[in-house]
Amino acid sequence: MFGDKKFAVAMAVAVGLGVAAGGAFAADATGQAAATKRHDNFKAQGAAFKGLLDEIKKETPDKVVIATNAAKLKASSLVLQSWFVKGSGPDAGVKTEAKAEAFTDAAGFAAAADKFKTEAAKLDALAQAGDIDGVKGQVRAVGGACKGCHDKYRAPEKKG
Ligand code: HEC
Repeated sequence: MFGDKKFAVAMAVAVGLGVAAGGAFAADATGQAAATKRHDNFKAQGAAFKGLLDEIKKETPDKVVIATNAAKLKASSLVLQSWFVKGSGPDAGVKTEAKAEAFTDAAGFAAAADKFKTEAAKLDALAQAGDIDGVKGQVRAVGGACKGCHDKYRAPEKKG
């Protein structure tokens, strides 16, 4: 019996499975948890952008609301890449809208993230200065940075 167990362990190592019981499942749970956290972060990011867009449409926009949401966007742009933890993509069997390329095309993804960082920082500077007209102009560039990344690295939303 001891021989069988030794063989099983050797085989598990050979094919790259976790040797500890449930090891493979633990890895999947970690990846899924990271994807879920990423989803929540994007939801918050989307809410901040929507909050800002809704505000600038008003006749007398509240500069504090704009500044608060712009600061959230900037903060989120600085950490966005860290949400794409290895093993939390579709290749790992995780439920996610992120395309595999978000994990494999490191240079392209970093460029898309950097573009967003740059535009969000400009937006935040204008918002903190209370320059509403400037903010109104800059939201296009920020929206373009969101779209630029989504077009390449996010799977189109499934209908139904
Ligand atoms: C560098 C790439 C990148 C940038 C920049 C980016 N996103 Fe995303 N976004 C993604 C990816 C990839 C997903 C899919 C994530 C997933 O499902 O794991 C996503 C998902 C989302 C979601 C979906 C969350 C949900 O509830 O399903 C929202 C909302 C969102 N992004 C908003 C934004 C907004 C608003 C901006 C700009 C202000 C932005 N994103 C900028 C890559 C990006």
